[in-house]
Amino acid sequence: MPTATDAATGLVLLERRASAAFVTLNRPDAANALSKGLVAELEGAFAQLAADVKRGSDVRAVVVTGAGKAFSAGADLKERRTMSLEETWGFLDELNRLMNAVAAFPRPVIAAINGAAFGGGLELALACDIRIAADTAEMGLTEVRLGVIPGAGGTARLARIASVAAAKEMILTGRRVRAQRAYALGLVSDVVPAAGLADAAAKLADEIAAAGPLATAAAKRAIDEGAALPLADALALEAACYEEVLASEDRNEGLAAFAEKRPPAFKGR
Ligand code: COA
Repeated sequence: MPTATDAATGLVLLERRASAAFVTLNRPDAANALSKGLVAELEGAFAQLAADVKRGSDVRAVVVTGAGKAFSAGADLKERRTMSLEETWGFLDELNRLMNAVAAFPRPVIAAINGAAFGGGLELALACDIRIAADTAEMGLTEVRLGVIPGAGGTARLARIASVAAAKEMILTGRRVRAQRAYALGLVSDVVPAAGLADAAAKLADEIAAAGPLATAAAKRAIDEGAALPLADALALEAACYEEVLASEDRNEGLAAFAEKRPPAFKGR
């Protein structure tokens, strides 16, 4: 069963299944809108998981999803109305800290987009490494319709993940697109029947969990940091990341398992 995080108000549920951790946004009555409380608990959950990884726990992939019908309706617009400009800036800082922590999490993070993902909700999914969506899901960076722009990484990440053209189409219109259109634009890498989304995410997490954890972490870093570099620098970074795994026990285990025709038992060292 899912357990609430330490903050114990239950706005985020953390569940371990085998080597994967499932993080569930749990404010279904408010379409999982990102209130201050929910953002603080999400940050707490990722900090706790990062500490677990550092201590050597075998968390090898994380799945983020939403309880109820929505993934997340984005900023809590009711709460936002009560904030001063200064408070709004402070909250945006915190939101960006959360997105950056998800993006830099030392294991692959999968967004399982179960329903509406708008504004900050979609930005959270964009901070993840892989996105899969229920065929009933809708997505949008709808901020311009509220007279603002995405402020938690949306302009930068969507343009890099999909394309500048897709980012402009989505962000300048603020339109909501269905999952299949999101797939065509390159926002999500798979669309599955809604009833099968949790299983599809778990299967993806299991696939990642079966791989060498040092290798997936090094590859994630090489891709993310390399994407912003000129090719020669990106190749040098890839070589540096390769060097980290070359000296690992996991690399020897991978070769031994191949020779012995058995699945490898990676230990993350
Ligand atoms: N902030 C605060 N509360 C929100 C919210 C948000 N972003 N989005 C939804 N809610 C609340 C609704 O006000 C409603 O609360 P109520 O029952 O007290 O009225 C509750 O969540 C459920 O929403 P509802 O619209 O009744 O559910 P739905 O399933 O028909 O639609 C959405 C869900 C997400 C499609 C719809 O609520 C929506 O479009 N929300 C706005 C999304 C948005 O524009 N986000 C901002 C991005 S910048």
